[in-house]
Amino acid sequence: MSILNGKNVLLGVTGGIAAYKTAALVRLFIKLGANVKVVMTPAAKDFITPLTLSTLSKNPVQYSFTTEDNDTVIWNDHVGLGLWGDLFVIAPATANTLSKMASGTSNNLLLATYLSAKCPVYFAPAMDLDMYKHPSTMESFEKLQSFGNIMIPAGSGELASGLVGEGRMAEPEDIVAFIEQDILGKLPLRGQKVLVTAGPTYEAIDPVRFIGNHSSGKMGFEIAKASANLGAEVVLITGPTHENVTHSLINVVPVVSASDMYNAVHDHFKTVDIAILSAAVADFTPKVVATQKIKKKSDTLTLELERTKDILASLGEIKTKQYLVGFALETNNELENAKGKLKRKNLNLIVLNSLNDKGAGFKGNTNKVTFIDNTGDIAEHDLKSKTDVASDLLNKIIENRHA
Ligand code: CTP
Repeated sequence: MSILNGKNVLLGVTGGIAAYKTAALVRLFIKLGANVKVVMTPAAKDFITPLTLSTLSKNPVQYSFTTEDNDTVIWNDHVGLGLWGDLFVIAPATANTLSKMASGTSNNLLLATYLSAKCPVYFAPAMDLDMYKHPSTMESFEKLQSFGNIMIPAGSGELASGLVGEGRMAEPEDIVAFIEQDILGKLPLRGQKVLVTAGPTYEAIDPVRFIGNHSSGKMGFEIAKASANLGAEVVLITGPTHENVTHSLINVVPVVSASDMYNAVHDHFKTVDIAILSAAVADFTPKVVATQKIKKKSDTLTLELERTKDILASLGEIKTKQYLVGFALETNNELENAKGKLKRKNLNLIVLNSLNDKGAGFKGNTNKVTFIDNTGDIAEHDLKSKTDVASDLLNKIIENRHA
């Protein structure tokens, strides 16, 4: 899954011949799962029609401050548009528009949107070679970059004028690849490896029965997604769940029993930087697994269970550089129990779920947690979606590792 999946991409199209390539650019963004809205300068409409871009982007295209609809005049909200974008890509960016952006001119909707946007702004210049090299254009490039805007350099080749040189807009595929790399490169967990355990484990009693628990796996899957969205390479070791995820940075390793999970975790632990163990691992497993289905011969049945290995504690014993996070589900004396677990299992942080809190725990989409770290810091959070809890947890880990 691309890092652009689910992102709001605002595409600004200005009046240069390369505008015809924005049809392909919009399609690429859409294919990667982005939401796209297009804003054009009036001149851009001479090169590609708003209808083409609105059809491809599945959104209305705007190019003026107002739109007349029968006898009504509708104000096109450039502020709302600017705030909607997670990123603003101006492609092609002509010398004229770049110069206006650099000077703060806002005499069209695209420029006003640019001034309103708070998100990262990328611009892909497109112009003839002498215009590209002109000192005033160079000055625009420098000034815009000094504002934090990101330039996607033009390529060299044959230009619309017939001349050969620098100034050709980067190809749509290259623009997308540039943006993906740029976003990934700036992510705080880029280059880091994260191991996550999720879900329940199933302990076989006989070929058709098992001992399991109600864990849905949601929390662990959200943690895996949050880690990947921050740039980490993730190995998600999960017991049987209905959850699924497709992300280029997440490697899903399905397991069934506590013993399978133990082995899979130890196969990966040495190479990871962060390990977050959110799985609800069975503490006991049948001592003997019947090879045939157990028949109901008597009124009672006694199963002998033995302890499973504590995966989290085993990692606490061997960890070197790894930041180790465990979960604690408590019903009474919560803080004290969680602090005890943090120390006993040699963790860096423990996430406490109290079963006394409404909306917290196994099955739902929400959770209420308290983070306790090995410096003694205790941070209590409100009831939140599991997505937000995962994001809070990753932020806390990043903060602590930099402290
Ligand atoms: N855990 C684990 N391996 C096990 C059991 C638990 O890795 N065999 C991990 C869980 O993933 C969780 C943490 O240990 O991160 C806490 O599990 P919990 O069952 O709450 O605590 P225990 O240490 O098992 O203590 P107790 O059952 O006595 O509360």
